[in-house]
Amino acid sequence: MNFSITTKSPETLSNYVVVGMFESQKLTFAANTINKVSKGTLLQNLKSRKFSGTAGQTLELTNLPGTKAKTVLVIGLGSNKCKVEFIKAIENVFSKVREAGETAITLFIPELKASGVDRAWMTRQIASIGTSLSYRYEQRKTLLDGKSFSGAPAKVAVAIEGKSASSDKTHLAQGSAVGKGMNLAKDLGNLPANICTPRFLAEITTKLGKQNKFMVKCLSEADMKKLGMGSLLSVSQGSKEPAQLIHASYSGGKKKDAPIVLVGKGITFDTGGISIKASSGMDEMKYDMGGAASVIGTLSAISEMKLPINVVGLIAAAENMPSGTATRPGDVVTSMSGKTIEILNTDAEGRLVLCDALTYAEKLNPAAAIDIATLTGACVVSLGKVASGLFSNNDDLAEEISKAGMTSWDRVWRMPIWEDYTELLSSNFADLANIGGRAAGSITAACFLAQFATKYPWAHLDIAGTAWVSGKQKGSTGRPVPLLCEFLLNRI
Ligand code: BES
Ligand code: MN
Ligand code: ZN
Repeated sequence: MNFSITTKSPETLSNYVVVGMFESQKLTFAANTINKVSKGTLLQNLKSRKFSGTAGQTLELTNLPGTKAKTVLVIGLGSNKCKVEFIKAIENVFSKVREAGETAITLFIPELKASGVDRAWMTRQIASIGTSLSYRYEQRKTLLDGKSFSGAPAKVAVAIEGKSASSDKTHLAQGSAVGKGMNLAKDLGNLPANICTPRFLAEITTKLGKQNKFMVKCLSEADMKKLGMGSLLSVSQGSKEPAQLIHASYSGGKKKDAPIVLVGKGITFDTGGISIKASSGMDEMKYDMGGAASVIGTLSAISEMKLPINVVGLIAAAENMPSGTATRPGDVVTSMSGKTIEILNTDAEGRLVLCDALTYAEKLNPAAAIDIATLTGACVVSLGKVASGLFSNNDDLAEEISKAGMTSWDRVWRMPIWEDYTELLSSNFADLANIGGRAAGSITAACFLAQFATKYPWAHLDIAGTAWVSGKQKGSTGRPVPLLCEFLLNRI
């Protein structure tokens, strides 16, 4: 999708023009201009078609007198009080445009007064939503054989009133980069596990690093063994696919700036191991690398934006399989931190790969580390598919992430990691067990991770409910790339 800024007046444009109306029946400035030149025909049409301005409503009008526009699309902007109305409206614009097969549109930015909504935010949202909604799974061709996406790349002009500033272009580019990062994360998630293996993730990240100028180093199982990552390696030992620890560093900031470290769970397929999962819906465990995908998507977005910040992506990639060499329930392993772990359930493998990555992160002296993981089914039970679970040992960091979630509308909800929960992880045979029982499953999982993230401000995002959708629309969502990008944009 190709984005540009225009300051032209709506009646002078000959393409597909998008303007808005609020629930109060008030027209936006651009809609009003069209109404005037059409001598009131626009409003007459809206009235006769009972267009009320509810958020997300759309009405296509053709051949309006006084305008050159081939089509005028009027969108409902709702009450003008909350930003989700704008998001809904923009989503519907792009669905409509996709349906109509339009290749060039001009979208007039409305005068919104909702809190947290300004021109910069709207511009970014338009570009990220437009890009994200143009996603087709065929894009895997880009990854697999370098062929580009065949869908028509629509030209989208964002029209603003008055003078345009250079920052408008920047915001468009930023939104577009976020959308592309989401689409990359979707592609990686949607790829089947026989293609998207730990080594595939390593190769793709290396390739992206060359294109986008970030450094990528991949640690082999032998390297990890030397570092004492007994916990991570216990997950991959039942699989023919070797584990990979992918270390990607984007250095846009000053040399001495401490990096933000993003740690992604990259289980390319989670059978559960010897504690094998039920077969129904198991295919969806190809999405168990959604955390890793979001880290790769975010790195590619921020390197495209050239953010002046240092970010390290660490991806703990492995496949969790049952076999004659797989870890047994009851096995005790020693993690890189020196802590021993009794593996009571081999299906609680995410925390086993992440804990060693979190210890590895210590030597990077992070300003903050955030891990992103499709960690627990329990998180889906508590928060559903709306919010990702947020857990943190640092209130400021948690607040910062929550706010970034609200702004990007890629929302999170914080849950506690109190000592009382950590106690549930006690083991008779090791420093801690890898499960805490049925109660508070997403919290005990986070408490497990917290034991390994003691040296820096840390947050954990449980994206088990938000990384993909099931059913007829099955597919990756690209979340939480918007949240992570917003968080990093706010750090510069
Ligand atoms: N990858 C799963 C979590 C998951 C399950 C995400 C379903 C999305 C949908 C994770 O590795 C897992 O299996 N967790 C177990 C933990 C349990 C054994 C303590 C779970 O949630 O059942
Ligand atoms: Mn599992
Ligand atoms: Zn898993």
